[in-house]
Amino acid sequence: MQTTGPSLTGVRLVLAVTGSIAAYKAVGLLRILRREGATVNVVMTAGACRFVTPLTFEVLSGSHVASDLFEAHQEMLHLSLPEQAQAILIAPATANCLAKAVLGLADDLLSTMLLTTQCPVIFAPAMDGDMWQHPTVVEHVATLRQRGAVIVEPEEGPLASGRSGQGRLADEARILSALQAALHPRRDWSGRRLLVSAGPTQEPIDPVRFISNRSSGKMGYALAEAARARGAEVLLVSGPTALPPPADVELCSVTTAEEMRKAVISRFSWSDTVIMAAAVADFRPAQPVAQKLKKRRGLVTSLELSPTEDILKELGERRTTQVLVGFAAETEDLLAHAREKLQAKDIDLLVANDVTAAGAGFGSDTNRVFILDRDGSVEELPQLPKRDVAHRILDRVLTLPTGRRSTKPAVQTGTHRKE
Ligand code: CTP
Repeated sequence: MQTTGPSLTGVRLVLAVTGSIAAYKAVGLLRILRREGATVNVVMTAGACRFVTPLTFEVLSGSHVASDLFEAHQEMLHLSLPEQAQAILIAPATANCLAKAVLGLADDLLSTMLLTTQCPVIFAPAMDGDMWQHPTVVEHVATLRQRGAVIVEPEEGPLASGRSGQGRLADEARILSALQAALHPRRDWSGRRLLVSAGPTQEPIDPVRFISNRSSGKMGYALAEAARARGAEVLLVSGPTALPPPADVELCSVTTAEEMRKAVISRFSWSDTVIMAAAVADFRPAQPVAQKLKKRRGLVTSLELSPTEDILKELGERRTTQVLVGFAAETEDLLAHAREKLQAKDIDLLVANDVTAAGAGFGSDTNRVFILDRDGSVEELPQLPKRDVAHRILDRVLTLPTGRRSTKPAVQTGTHRKE
């Protein structure tokens, strides 16, 4: 495995292993952590000891492996280990471990340590796909994130159950890079003000019905969270979603395209960067009715739709020094449509994805995108969790000069950078 981040020389870590079949992968992880220079204390739950023996970790870490809370009590390990550690990495983390961390249960050494620690905690979950998708687990993951924990999402692929799904322990490189990011948080967005829009809009037909689209808001929320973590002040203008608001981000909730337009325009001068990740409705019912349409009316022969204002286009016309980023959700001729939009809306970057592709688009936790710029270059990113896509977009924005006034993009053709 090739490593790119800073070395771990002089870093003291706790590697906590919980009772998943992926516990054997923690052995490889420990070797990498040691190779990178870290001093590692391994803590195992009783479940983990059923899969791999503590002796394996003891030999490879060069120190005693703690697993029993009452034995550990003699040395106050539940206090001293987290106190000395610069980070606690839990890999693999079971659904049970996530639940205990959320509830603050303290019935074993690891869960007790999580109540005493002040250092960053990184969870790398591994479980069956259905468990990972279960609403309780989804809620626990969101809560832990809100509290500042890092979650390295499991990967898609064949699972120990013989099924296939998202549940495999993330690969070593991703875990290591999340650990390095937690140890050396990037503050490269500090001093910047990001306005990001997210989610769908809803356009009323009558007081109880609306037209909308399938956007979940996940991409916009991931952008807001990532930029905040990197030091930006963030305003999130969000249409209706089921997502918890990211911590320490100003949230402005809207429903219709016109409400979103007003919110975005009124704070445009505050921002230095706007990322329009929202799936703004392009059409609204021309004449929403004041009372609920009764079905006894029978056949509704037509629903007249009028176009909404294009917010991003308006920003392109009004901009002074802001960087503007748009999204394009397409179902065909992805790059051709994306180039047209970049030009028509007079923006700096356009993130395009084919919403019909597997592992991309609405509702998915991953995305496969192309990033197009005004100079005609196209960067293709591999399929990544939306959180990682967010960071890559933020990285790209930082390469753009701020303070450029609107000019029409010059080139339509260009290089195609592929990873
Ligand atoms: N957008 C916007 N206001 C609208 C519609 C879209 O600001 N009324 C923004 C979206 O947030 C996105 C970008 O414009 O960043 C692209 O939106 P999209 O609907 O895909 O493109 P359109 O220009 O509306 O073209 P079409 O629907 O024909 O694909």
